[in-house]
Amino acid sequence: MPVIRAIVPALTPGIIPSPKDAPLRTSRSHFLIFMETIIAYSHSEVVDFPCMKTLILYCSKTGNTKTYALDLAKAVDADVYPLKKLKPKKWLEYDTIVFGGWIMGGTIQGLDKFLQSWDLISDKNVIVFADGMGVPDSATRTALIEQNVLDIYHIRFYQLRGSFDFKKLKFPYSFLLNNTLIQMQKDPKQAETAKALESFKDCPLEYYDHEKMDRMISVIRSLAIEVPFEEKK
Ligand SMILES: Cc1cc2nc3c(=O)[nH]c(=O)nc-3n(C[C@H](O)[C@H](O)[C@H](O)COP(=O)(O)O)c2cc1C
Repeated sequence: MPVIRAIVPALTPGIIPSPKDAPLRTSRSHFLIFMETIIAYSHSEVVDFPCMKTLILYCSKTGNTKTYALDLAKAVDADVYPLKKLKPKKWLEYDTIVFGGWIMGGTIQGLDKFLQSWDLISDKNVIVFADGMGVPDSATRTALIEQNVLDIYHIRFYQLRGSFDFKKLKFPYSFLLNNTLIQMQKDPKQAETAKALESFKDCPLEYYDHEKMDRMISVIRSLAIEVPFEEKK
C-alpha cells in the first residue's frame, strides 16, 4: 500500500521544553531555541500513514451521473472512469471503490455489470450511488434497494436526485419513455404522475444534490484515513 511519510520529532525529555519550562524559555536566546529545534528533528523518526486510493466508476446516459462522479473524484482526489473503460483487474489497485449509475424504471444502470466482479472487491470499501429524477425518500430508497438486490451486499448506498432533460435523450430511450408515458396515462392510478412527467418534456428539470454529495465526500474522506485493523495498536 502506498504511504505518506511524515517526520515526527522525537519527544525526547529535556529537548522539547514542557509548559512548566515556559518562563525559562522566554529568557533563552533565539539561537538556543533554534538549536533545540535542530536537535529535536535529528531525533525524529519516520512514521508511515497509509494512503488509501479511491476509484470512481460510473454509467451515465445524458451526463448527470458523470457530473456527480467527476465532482466526487475532484473532491476526494480519486481516479474516475466510465464503468466500461476500466478492466476489473485494475480495480484491485484501490482501497475504496465507488460506482454511480442512473436510474431507469427503478433499475440502476450498469450495476449488474459492476457487481459481476463483486468477488474481486468484496474486501474493499464499496459505495454505490444512483441518481434519478425522483425525490429521494425512505420508501423509494427501500424500493431501489429491493429492485436492485443491493441488500445482499456489504455496500454503502446513496440515492441522489438528478436532472432530467428530454431533449438530450436519444433513441431508444426517448421512444421508451414516450411509450411508458402513454401506458401510464391509460392507467387512472398513474395518470397524474404521467401528466407531471409530460411537463418535463418542455421544461427540463435541473437539480444538483449538494446534501448527498457532501455526505458521500465526508464518508469517502473518513475511509481514506481509516487505519487498517492490524495496524491499530
Ligand atoms: C427511459 C427513462 C426512464 C427513467 N426512469 C426513472 C426512474 O424510474 N426513476 C427515476 O428517479 N428517474 C428515472 N429517469 C430519470 C433519470 O434517471 C435521470 O434523468 C438521471 O439523472 C439520468 O442520468 P444520466 O444523465 O447520467 O444519464 C428515467 C429516465 C429515462 C430516460
